Amino acid sequence: MTAAPVLDIHLSDDDSAEALRRDVRAGLTVAPKWLPPKWLYDARGSELFEEITALPEYYPFRTERELLRSIAPEIAGAAGAGTLVELGSGSSEKTRLLLDALRAGGELRRFVPLDVSESALRAAMGALAAEYPGLAVHGVVGDFTRHLELLPAGGRRLVAFLGGTIGNLLPHERAEFLTALHDALQPGETLLLGAGLVTDPGVLVPAYDDAAGVTAEFNRNVLHVLNRELDADFDVSAFRHVALWDGEREWIEMRLRAGRDMTVRLPGVGLQVGFEAGEELQTEISSKFRREGLAVELAAAGFTLARWWTDPDERFSLSLATRR
Ligand code: SAH
Ligand code: AVI
Repeated sequence: MTAAPVLDIHLSDDDSAEALRRDVRAGLTVAPKWLPPKWLYDARGSELFEEITALPEYYPFRTERELLRSIAPEIAGAAGAGTLVELGSGSSEKTRLLLDALRAGGELRRFVPLDVSESALRAAMGALAAEYPGLAVHGVVGDFTRHLELLPAGGRRLVAFLGGTIGNLLPHERAEFLTALHDALQPGETLLLGAGLVTDPGVLVPAYDDAAGVTAEFNRNVLHVLNRELDADFDVSAFRHVALWDGEREWIEMRLRAGRDMTVRLPGVGLQVGFEAGEELQTEISSKFRREGLAVELAAAGFTLARWWTDPDERFSLSLATRR
């Protein structure tokens, strides 16, 4: 018999609204202006991300999926997990490859997806519960930068953090995240980390600036979120999508560039914010990594890099790390 899926909600509407107000006050009152990327993912943002994963230019998704397809049995053998946790799970599409391999190993009992996007999480949970009868599905609406200590315990956990989402955290946020994850796990539990690698900017930049304009719409979606949640009056069409490669910091930056001078009212947060023509709002970084750097960051947080795989073009990596 299959138990009904469980959903823990650690981000109430009020909590989320307060977090947004805090981030907007902090990010829109400084120069240069910035916002954390998690606000890109309301229901529409999650749908747009799904569209991005099908774009010809967006190689990370399909590269990671094909890599995962070839190594999932090895991962399952090495992790021997009874519980698969997934952070920033979205549609959990690639995760099915892991679930299948873990199930074939015979020990998998439970799947715990965690995401800030309740709509994406509910849709994924519904589909997975139907596809994997007998698997206990325990969803968590939460923020992986705040709620790791609330993850359900037990069952020898393998934590998957896929897609390269770790690259959307700033370096100091990454260190805090990995330390918090270490503290939330037991010795011997494992982390499967998907990370984009430093590669040719001629490949990287189009992945974040596609010809069909889907990434541009995804980027501008954050302004729709502010208009709806804070009663703001951004003229969304007056902002241009910008994606650039910072070769020194080895990250892609997504920005929104104001096409003209404007004053934006945000009554929900009691702010009025001026933009000059050409001024940019930073909406996301997407760091790309090298093996040595990742191994050092993992070790500093108390993880040992046990296995490392890449695709043949070395554009994307999967690391299996053990919590010491
Ligand atoms: N793991 C999927 C989805 C990646 S998109 C894949 O590999 O394709 C990034 C996902 O992380 C989205 O579903 C988004 O809602 C979620 N997300 C972004 N910031 C988050 C945060 N701070 N806490 C929890 N989830 C977050
Ligand atoms: C979710 N994350 C890993 C994506 C990335 O590639 O950084 C988000 C994204 N931004 C633009 N396109 C996709």
